[in-house]
Amino acid sequence: MIHSLLHVGMTVPDLEIGRAFYELFGLEARACGNDLVLRCPERAQDQIRLIQGPKKRLSYVSLGTDEAGMQAVKSQLERAGVVIVAAPFRVPFGGIWFQDPHGDWLNVQIEEAAPSLMAAPPELNVPGRYRRIGTRACDIESMQKRARPRRLGHLIKFSPDVDRSVDFYMQVLGLRMSDRAQDILAFLRGAKGGDHHLLAFAKSTHTGLHHLSFEVGDFDEIEIGAQTMVRAGYKSAFGPGRHVGGSNYFHYIRDPWNSLVEYFWDIDIIPEDDSGWVPLNVTPDELTAVWASEPPPPEFPMNFELPD
Ligand SMILES: [Fe+2]
Repeated sequence: MIHSLLHVGMTVPDLEIGRAFYELFGLEARACGNDLVLRCPERAQDQIRLIQGPKKRLSYVSLGTDEAGMQAVKSQLERAGVVIVAAPFRVPFGGIWFQDPHGDWLNVQIEEAAPSLMAAPPELNVPGRYRRIGTRACDIESMQKRARPRRLGHLIKFSPDVDRSVDFYMQVLGLRMSDRAQDILAFLRGAKGGDHHLLAFAKSTHTGLHHLSFEVGDFDEIEIGAQTMVRAGYKSAFGPGRHVGGSNYFHYIRDPWNSLVEYFWDIDIIPEDDSGWVPLNVTPDELTAVWASEPPPPEFPMNFELPD
């Protein structure tokens, strides 16, 4: 059913503070009605819609499917007794709208994720597999390199009942379990495979956004991006490091409202025929990091969104 993450909507008290943060992060901003829409360079797909409002809040998540998937989602919603309603936000796109078990808004559209038109990064030379022959990976111009996010890969939402969220998103939307940490953390991928997770849930007293995560071209871009943000006064929240869940390299930055944004690179990809994939079910610490520059700070798993 659901095969891609399209974009998220976030209500924030000041659009210009959002613009400054995300433009420095590497996204491109444009006004869209009263909202501010952020995209990755060289990719024709909205990734974040910032909506002016009284307090910062993850407002909705927009997910992509195909025509057959839309029919299946609609019948699963009906079976689960979930009502499809008119769009609760003034947005210029279609699809269906409904709420998950904790009242968070979801939009599902018949839509393919847009391709990135950016050139592929240089090949990597690893022991026994040397693929960049006679070409430099770095030159003088590399010193001017900036992080250029390719796509919004995933988000982690807080949930007061991770098991209930997992049941809904797997049964009604067709997402699949990739790894979990008991009832504290669960990573779900799309119905057709792909990234290890496009959505994950972390336990909290109430819903909210833990982090958005953007794929960049290589490990250099993770750190060039993170260091650019830190030099401008934003806070490094955790990283660099490499996760166990998803295997991606990471560095998290605090956004102006205390949620997190992650640069990531080299995430696990799981095929649609996933017969060889065995989900882990371990402790949260065991899923967090193979290594990191320092342990995750105590506030890393905290939910800074205020409940309604
Ligand atoms: Fe992440």
